[in-house]
Amino acid sequence: MKTKTFKKQLFKVCFLALGLPFLVNPSANAQTTKLTLDFTKPCVNVSPMLYGLMTEEINHSYDGGLYAELIRNRVFKDNKTKPEGWSLVQQDTASRASIKLIAGDPDNVPGNEARHSINGALTTCLRLTVTKGGSKAGIANEGYWGIPVKPSTTYKASFYLKGTGSMPQRRFGGPQGGGPQGPAPAAAPTIDDNTAGPISVTIESNDGKTVYASGTIELAKSTFWKKYELTLTTGADVKPTADARFVISTNRSGLYYFNLVSLFPPTYNNRPNGNRIDLTKMMIDMKPKFLRFPGGNYLEGPDFANGFPWKTTLGPIDGRPGHKGSWGYRPTDGMGLYEFLMWCEETGAEPLLGVYAGYSLNGDHVDAGSLLKPYVDDALDEIEYIIGDVKTYWGAKRAADGHPAPFKLSYIEVGNEDWFDRSNSYDGRFKQFREAIEKKYPQLKCISTIADAQYPTQKVTGKSPAILDEHYYRSSWDMWENAYQYDKYDRNGPKIFVGEWATREGAPTTNLNAALGDAAWMTGMERNSDLIIMSCYAPLFVNVNTATSTAPKAWQWDSDLIGYNAMTAFGSPSYYVQKLFSEYLGDQVVPMSSENIATQLKPLSKRDSINKVKPISVPTIFYAATKDTKSGAVYLKVVNALGKIQPVEISLKGLTNVSKNGTLVVISGKKSDDTNTITEPEKIVPVTTKIKGIAPVFKQKLAPYSVNVYQLQPGK
Ligand code: AHR
Repeated sequence: MKTKTFKKQLFKVCFLALGLPFLVNPSANAQTTKLTLDFTKPCVNVSPMLYGLMTEEINHSYDGGLYAELIRNRVFKDNKTKPEGWSLVQQDTASRASIKLIAGDPDNVPGNEARHSINGALTTCLRLTVTKGGSKAGIANEGYWGIPVKPSTTYKASFYLKGTGSMPQRRFGGPQGGGPQGPAPAAAPTIDDNTAGPISVTIESNDGKTVYASGTIELAKSTFWKKYELTLTTGADVKPTADARFVISTNRSGLYYFNLVSLFPPTYNNRPNGNRIDLTKMMIDMKPKFLRFPGGNYLEGPDFANGFPWKTTLGPIDGRPGHKGSWGYRPTDGMGLYEFLMWCEETGAEPLLGVYAGYSLNGDHVDAGSLLKPYVDDALDEIEYIIGDVKTYWGAKRAADGHPAPFKLSYIEVGNEDWFDRSNSYDGRFKQFREAIEKKYPQLKCISTIADAQYPTQKVTGKSPAILDEHYYRSSWDMWENAYQYDKYDRNGPKIFVGEWATREGAPTTNLNAALGDAAWMTGMERNSDLIIMSCYAPLFVNVNTATSTAPKAWQWDSDLIGYNAMTAFGSPSYYVQKLFSEYLGDQVVPMSSENIATQLKPLSKRDSINKVKPISVPTIFYAATKDTKSGAVYLKVVNALGKIQPVEISLKGLTNVSKNGTLVVISGKKSDDTNTITEPEKIVPVTTKIKGIAPVFKQKLAPYSVNVYQLQPGK
């Protein structure tokens, strides 16, 4: 109640301060808006790397997202105290069974001297204890908000399993384990070891009543770990559903130990340990020129021990323990360095590598000097893995992992958002990394994460870095206000990489208004793409599942580009803007000017109102044009941020001959908060039409809330 009253009072203050504070008020402009593309003026080149993508493990981007693994908590390390994602299956009361996490060292039960670690990575396993067989008892995995069942689909399942000798039962209850327990009572009965024999593997409905796909493996009579593999295929008549679980079960008594339980659906290009097909295709459609990875905060990690551990992400997944991520859940590291590189190759993007630079999210840092050297060496190793000759140590590892040819690599970003490092150590850290990297690899360019324009007090001194990374997460109003910011930048300074940016409106994916903010901002980057050599929207992915009784909400960051659940994926309106902007892009910027663009008043923030800041006017139309020097095609992008039609007159100065026919692609909607969702994935999508009447001067009506891309063809 208190908060509500306070909010009301604030509204009053704002209203009084401004007169009409929150009302959008386009300037009454009777004159026609004019846009001129000036072909008589010299053009600058469009950066060939202008539009890329940024990625990190956030919002279940990989685990429960792009990385196709379907089993949640496959190595049982997500939670030390309970087997998250797992449950006991006990078909009826005839059998008696339980499950328990067994961590690390020996079970400590007399008579069972087997250690349960498989290797240094697989140190925690799940034990199924069946004290009485005869019916179905097993372990079930719920997947990442469900296991997706699709018709005629073959899934690859694998797991480590051992059935062991009997374990004494305590007189007062069921079997014990998992910690020091002292000697068992002498007269305790034991569980019969009947583990050897067929083990059933199924993808089935959550109530266990419908089996969608099944198979069996023959469990060996051995107390040693063994890896089992099988395929499960669904029938052609299966109805697609994510209301399903993965179950491994038995009808015999004994102790069953499981580790690294994995289930993969078909992946893009059938690559083992590969990626979801639908999401990969959506990325390919954006034609990204590069992929910035592995973060973001994910690169830095919550602390020193948990920066992106690229070395332990290499090789078979059996050697990957996962690590503590930066976004509240534990990444499997199934998406390791090699997989990032393969992902780039599959989408046609060049890797843009962020190297851990001695600063983590908890604020800890390593000063430049001898203490930083191991981190610099680690970055050099990582680069060697990516581009080193096969005769080098890390180049040979890459070859052994399946890729003898070096990957393409031109840019290295040193750290992430180091303006947060209040110790001001970045200057020295950047210098040390840069000198070492450029000495060994003179062809590489190092990017500084501190940019003069954003953080003037934290400059990188010394030899000026070639490229600075700027990050902008803004409202659509802020995007509209700042869409012309780069027109004013010094052309003699470093080049700019807009390494993270987004209009943050809509959740979990963005809405149309955000797309209008994005498009306006992108016209600014495109017009200035002599300076803005690269840019990438963030975050790229979001699993849109809300919390269930067993799993938390899937995302941590609102306003993301591509949404999905276990079954399907959809692009936000911002996704379609990304796609359009990169698809319709020439290699030279056509200089443009405008007249009579209507403006609207930007609403004041609560603080602005209280501080009596005067409202400012922001434009309602944004534009950029490029031309393709080979085909001659001209691409004109015009954004109408207003919810009403805006007529424009477009002049092609210096062009006497242009084809009458052109193409117009429009993204628009009725309401600015319209959006796409799992259930309505194509509410806002680009619509292409043929247009006539193109001439050196022609008129158009911009649809309300619209992003418009004109493709014009000048004559010879
Ligand atoms: O994109 C989400 C986060 O925003 C990134 O991890 C971080 O770099 C930025 O602060």
